[in-house]
Amino acid sequence: MPTPKLNIRSGHPDFLDLDWSRSVTEWDPDRLVDLPTGIHRHEIVFVPYLRDIYAVKEMSLELARHEWQMLRGLRDRDASVVEPVGIVERPWIPPDEEGAGAVITRYLDYTFSYRELIEGGGFGPRRNQMLDAFANLLVELHLLGAFWGDCSLSNVLYRYDAEALQVTMVDAETVSLHDRLTEGQRTEDLHLMIENVAGGMADIAASQDIEVDAGDLALGDDIALRYEGLWHELTRDEEIRRDETYKIHDRVERLNAMGFEVEDVEIVPGAEGESRLRLRLKVGGRRFHAHRLYELARVEATERQARQILSDLHYHHAKQGTDSPAGKAVAAVQWRVNVFEPLLVRIEQAMGPSGNPVQGYADFLHHRYLLAEQAGRDIETEEAFEDWLVSGRPGYPLS
Ligand SMILES: Nc1ncnc2c1ncn2[C@@H]1O[C@H](COP(=O)(O)OP(=O)(O)OP(=O)(O)O)[C@@H](O)[C@H]1O
Ligand SMILES: [Mg+2]
Repeated sequence: MPTPKLNIRSGHPDFLDLDWSRSVTEWDPDRLVDLPTGIHRHEIVFVPYLRDIYAVKEMSLELARHEWQMLRGLRDRDASVVEPVGIVERPWIPPDEEGAGAVITRYLDYTFSYRELIEGGGFGPRRNQMLDAFANLLVELHLLGAFWGDCSLSNVLYRYDAEALQVTMVDAETVSLHDRLTEGQRTEDLHLMIENVAGGMADIAASQDIEVDAGDLALGDDIALRYEGLWHELTRDEEIRRDETYKIHDRVERLNAMGFEVEDVEIVPGAEGESRLRLRLKVGGRRFHAHRLYELARVEATERQARQILSDLHYHHAKQGTDSPAGKAVAAVQWRVNVFEPLLVRIEQAMGPSGNPVQGYADFLHHRYLLAEQAGRDIETEEAFEDWLVSGRPGYPLS
């Protein structure tokens, strides 16, 4: 039997039980799970293991090597991208032929493809969320110096993120990484996105046998507009007076509130000489609250879920009056063990195996907040939780 070459990152199965001498299309279907996917050219299968499901995608060796390297580079930069787990080489197949290489990624839980998101055309009531999420991802990638080259509806995965949607890049074949992108690269990437999104919408219309309307074809333009607004907000230089340095703090806080990490603040003399200063911020990944929540309590969540859950942690801190750093660290652990985890178990039970419990937790917190607002006083967690359950576990209203 020909011998494949496997390079697998630690912390995952070794994948040696799979029959690499054959194409994934010939693998025993009983070993695989059938999951919905976006449109794709390459063969891709999903393999369940004890803890996680993995996606195996076959390609030419050159492409597999490139994608593998780009996925790792993107992860290192903390981009929203699927986790690269391994690369497989089949040396008996010529390197430029399909199947000479395969990339293994971890299946991202609780995600869905755009086909599942669309009911009633044009992303229906989730249109705004989807457009914002897309714009956010492109801005994030461009800030990190990543040119995508193939941003499309099929090349991302969607999941709920508290009141918003979050999209994750799934296909990095065409990516190139740079220190920073030029205007030309950003514009080109936006053009490709606009074209691809129109193609995706036309494809949906054809497959559902409905007329595609002009608004749907122009979704990409709408994403580009939102992108430009956000890009400007994040990258504009700001001039302040020398006695206004408090504004630096304000600006950083504003960006953090949007989820962006600020890696550097560069301060240089302003255009009109010594009396003014010019601020230039180096903005990093968009996981500010997710990182804080993980550091404090070792809880993993998407960015907006984390922001919501952190407010729950602060609410408990406030109730207990803990303010020393050591007291806060202990209180964070106590909150996780006594409040968060028991409630998460009850949410999991209520939602069943297909539910997304962390999103459920965020939904519940929002519900508790609405109840308190209505009542004009804090509502005990237990009382609010019962109410959330009998109300059918409502989520956030759509805007
Ligand atoms: N790690 C993953 N988690 C969840 N779904 C995944 C994962 N990897 C791939 N998919 C699903 O498989 C589909 C195809 O993946 P991908 O876009 O990488 O394939 P492709 O053949 O390279 O696409 P293209 O035709 O754009 O080159 C995606 O749309 C997504 O639905
Ligand atoms: Mg793809």
